This record gives sequence, structure tokens and C-alpha cells, in this order.
Amino acid sequence: MKNFKAKMFNKKASNPKSKPNQILETLALQLGQNIADIGSGGGYFSLRFADAVGKGNVYAVDTNPGFLEFIRNSAKEKGLNNVKIILPTKDRLILPEKSLDFVFMRNVCHHLPNRVEYFRNLTGLLKPDGKIVIIEYKRGGFFSFHRIFGHYIPREIIVEEMNEAGYRLEKDFDFLPNQSFAIFSLKK
Ligand SMILES: C[S@@+](CC[C@H](N)C(=O)[O-])C[C@H]1O[C@@H](n2cnc3c(N)ncnc32)[C@H](O)[C@@H]1O
Repeated sequence: MKNFKAKMFNKKASNPKSKPNQILETLALQLGQNIADIGSGGGYFSLRFADAVGKGNVYAVDTNPGFLEFIRNSAKEKGLNNVKIILPTKDRLILPEKSLDFVFMRNVCHHLPNRVEYFRNLTGLLKPDGKIVIIEYKRGGFFSFHRIFGHYIPREIIVEEMNEAGYRLEKDFDFLPNQSFAIFSLKK
């Protein structure tokens, strides 16, 4: 069942409609960079990042141990030894201070119980020019699943909360049909 769900996340993430290649191009990852994929699900993006950063580390972070096991096996099959599996608590992630070039979160923010505090705790993990990438569902039409089940956060709320947590909006993009896509950096 866990594998089924992990595979389903990957099928959706890799669907051309989700524009994974355009997301990767936008991030323009470089060799040696470290990235935490928080709420990594089936690990589709973790593995793409691992390929892109070479000797850099990719932390696949998820509260679901079954998904992490799935990612560990997938990385092994692909010969990617720079994917590190991290089981966090629901509201805190522990990694080396000032170690991350990117935190990536796709379709995860609406799961976090106290987002301002969560993101404030991440400030110390980023390098001074590190970035947080948030891709989150938009409200959607009247019958949309995300709207009915509250699985979305309006872009304005994300920007407001990130501002409160110590970040400024650096750029955002509107090429994803169902999600907002914003990149934040630390306030100087
Ligand atoms: C909708 S899935 C998105 C998976 C993946 N990011 C993708 O785009 O395919 C949300 C994921 O976030 C994880 N999650 C939920 N709350 C979390 C938390 N507090 N910390 C880390 N992961 C969390 C879930 O277990 C699930 O794998």
C-alpha cells in the first residue's frame, strides 16, 4: 500500500502536465549543492535533484517511514548514493546548520500544523544565500478536490507567512496550472 501511494505520487509528479522539467530548469541546480526535499513522498524530485547535484547531498525528508524506505530502494537501484533519508518530527527538521542551498517543498505546506514556526526553524539550516522553494496548490474551481478538502494555501497567505518567518519573496512563476510556485530567500 505504501509503495502504491509512493508510486502514485511519482506518477503525478512526473506527468508532463506537472512540468517537472521546467521546474528543474527554473531551479538551475549546480554540482555540489545541498538540497532538502521536505515532504518527499515517492521521491521523484529527490532523485532528479540527486542526479543534478552530483557530489552534493539530497535530503529526502518525510514523516512517513514507508515512503522513505521506498526512496532508499529507488536511489540504490539507480546507483545514487547522495540521497540521505531523514525522518523528521512533524514540526521540526534537524540538519547541520547553514548547510542547505535549497529547501524544496511541493504540495506539502498545507500539511504543516504551524507554518510560521516551522519555516522560522529552517532559517538556521540555510546557507546565507540559500533559498526556499514552495510549490503549493491554488484554491481551484468550485468542485476542485483541493478546494473541497482544504488542500491548498493561497499564494498571498504563503508570502505573508514567509515574511513573518524571516524570508522575502525573491521570484515567483505562473507556468503551473494548478499550483503557485515561489522562491524565497533570507531577509538580510
Ligand atoms: C502530497 S505529498 C507530496 C509529495 C511530493 N512532494 C511530490 O510532489 O510528489 C505530501 C507529502 O508530505 C509528507 N508530509 C506531511 N507532513 C509532513 C511534515 N510535517 N514533514 C515532512 N513531510 C510531511 C507526506 O507524508 C507526503 O509524503
